[in-house]
Amino acid sequence: MASGILAGRVAFVTGAGSGIGRATCRLLARDGAKVIAADRNLQAAKETANELGNDRAAALEVDVSSAQSVQSAVGDAIAKFQQAPSIVVNSAGITRDGYLLKMPERDYDDVYSVNLKGTFLVTQHFAKAMIEQQQPRGSIINLSSIVARMNNVGQANYAATKAGVISFTEVASKEFGKFGIRVNCILPGYIDTPMVAVVPDKIKQQVVQRCPLGRLGQPEEIAEVIAFLASEKSAYVNGAAIEVTGGLK
Ligand SMILES: NC(=O)c1ccc[n+]([C@@H]2O[C@H](COP(=O)([O-])OP(=O)(O)OC[C@H]3O[C@@H](n4cnc5c(N)ncnc54)[C@H](O)[C@@H]3O)[C@@H](O)[C@H]2O)c1
Repeated sequence: MASGILAGRVAFVTGAGSGIGRATCRLLARDGAKVIAADRNLQAAKETANELGNDRAAALEVDVSSAQSVQSAVGDAIAKFQQAPSIVVNSAGITRDGYLLKMPERDYDDVYSVNLKGTFLVTQHFAKAMIEQQQPRGSIINLSSIVARMNNVGQANYAATKAGVISFTEVASKEFGKFGIRVNCILPGYIDTPMVAVVPDKIKQQVVQRCPLGRLGQPEEIAEVIAFLASEKSAYVNGAAIEVTGGLK
């Protein structure tokens, strides 16, 4: 029997093949949860799960932008550890940066489909499963971004979806409170992951200069806050949007 504050819980983490999602899987497993590492990139999800061991983790292929894929992920997830996950982390996300006047419709649609619609689909389907199985408590954690408040040029699509995630989180927290399911979101600053690796060095240097802590964040520094929100340590935190930015505004 696993020990730790999350012992007996099952977590479903999207975007688990990289960056913040992978770090989240590690920390939730450290705290005793069984973890389902879900990603569109199955090989990457398997690497995450293998690192944690078969008794504590399993990998699943899911495309969060597809209702069909998310629907079948619910059944697969329940089958892995014989219970509906009571912790869900929506970390799958993409960027397709470009100036608004030149932004292809496709880049707008793709970012919307993964970041906002994907968060909606996963939240809806997994919350239904939690409610059907009468899980005594649930915690859904969504990844927004400080970009939702900074509104960088070149990120109209991304910023709009991440602002949408904040509103979506608030509505879900109001609707799900009566089921014992809390819903919160995190607004990371610039975190050292493959997503930020493609940001030009000049921009990264500007970010570091503007950040009071003078550095990028590490994925584990976001995952620690996710682990807190997953656990009963945060039992009265609901509908919150928590900035984890090193003070970057
Ligand atoms: N890194 C940062 O600085 C930062 C800052 C603010 C917010 N965020 C948000 O945090 C989350 C994680 O970011 P990250 O830096 O770890 O990114 P990342 O690029 O390292 O990882 C994202 C993962 O999501 C997966 N993914 C993409 N589309 C998917 C889909 N349709 N279905 C399932 N999986 C899919 C990718 O395969 C990848 O493994 C994202 O939502 C991102 O927008 C990141």
